[in-house]
Amino acid sequence: MAKLTLPGLVDVHTHMRVPGGEQKEDFSSGTAAALAGGFTTILAMPNTRPPLSSAQDLEAARHLAINDIRCDLGFYAGANPGQIDQLAECAPYTTALKIYLNETYGPLRVEELSTLDTCFINWPAGKLIAMHAEGQIVAVGIGLAAVYNRPVHFCHISRKEEIELIASAKERGLPVTCEVAPHHLFLTAADAERLGPLGQMRPPLAAASDVEALWEHINSTVDCIATDHAPHTLAEKNSPSPPPGVPGLETSLPLMLTAVHDGRLSFNRLVELMSDNPRRIFNLSKQPETMVEVDSEHTTTISDQRLFTKCGWSPFSGMTVHGRVERVILRGQLVYEAGAVFAPPGTGRLLPESPWQNETT
Ligand code: NCD
Ligand code: ZN
Ligand code: ZN
Ligand code: ZN
Repeated sequence: MAKLTLPGLVDVHTHMRVPGGEQKEDFSSGTAAALAGGFTTILAMPNTRPPLSSAQDLEAARHLAINDIRCDLGFYAGANPGQIDQLAECAPYTTALKIYLNETYGPLRVEELSTLDTCFINWPAGKLIAMHAEGQIVAVGIGLAAVYNRPVHFCHISRKEEIELIASAKERGLPVTCEVAPHHLFLTAADAERLGPLGQMRPPLAAASDVEALWEHINSTVDCIATDHAPHTLAEKNSPSPPPGVPGLETSLPLMLTAVHDGRLSFNRLVELMSDNPRRIFNLSKQPETMVEVDSEHTTTISDQRLFTKCGWSPFSGMTVHGRVERVILRGQLVYEAGAVFAPPGTGRLLPESPWQNETT
């Protein structure tokens, strides 16, 4: 048995599906999955129904979350062309702003340059802007980071050309960061064929050469591992028009520990990618008396059976991984051990805890 201790992990990209998608996930099931995966802090995306694009809808979502979350959770506001004038008022309820520049699941999309400009002008300077940008659109995000001289974070970077452009932007000192999802590190377009709708997500699974490029940048350009936990029910996935997205909260750490086991990155680098860097980039303070214990040698086959996510399936099912979460302690409280979640709903805290927390009075 090889016991290792990590700080509480942070997943900056999850979809909790409340409001409007509770058949896929809710705050209670989603944060149970988070704890089982070693995450004590998660950020929830705004592509809900309605989307989280007004102070009113964000406040309502926070009210729904406060008694349900088992780990700490912050929200993204979603840039919505129809409600763009309300952006500044959203900020106090959130950790960051999300802008969708490409087609994906949900109602949010920004297509006009004027809307993008408004985002960069109205969103408070102290809070991050994150983007779903694919292919050449990554260059749009880099351009905006340069022009407005403020940080831009790229979600789920998946292709060689994208990671290389971000590497060049960083070399020139531009304030850009990026995350990579485990499905883009461990699966390819060949798996997508095998998996059918369960292998469909945005950005889609890429070529082996893209996967190779992501691993080549794992110690340099990649800032965070983020799951893009995007659960959909099996019924939805097996329908004639399956929505894109796959769950990932419970499989991300075991997969990354397997990469450490296989010598593809160091344990210290894993901790940077899954805890230190996301905390620094998103300005999230450390949780006291919080840690994750793993058995780095335990071998398991990922299965749909033992999952806490409401969707009940994984694109990684059948894969053998080295590394299992044994215990999670959050602020001195035992919240997960040996397959059981002990944190009752309401254990988690909202980020920021009060919308007025960061205001100077
Ligand atoms: C996400 C979802 O289902 O909300 N789907 C996905 O394929 N990644 C949306 C997103 O993150 O782009
Ligand atoms: Zn996305
Ligand atoms: Zn997502
Ligand atoms: Zn081994």
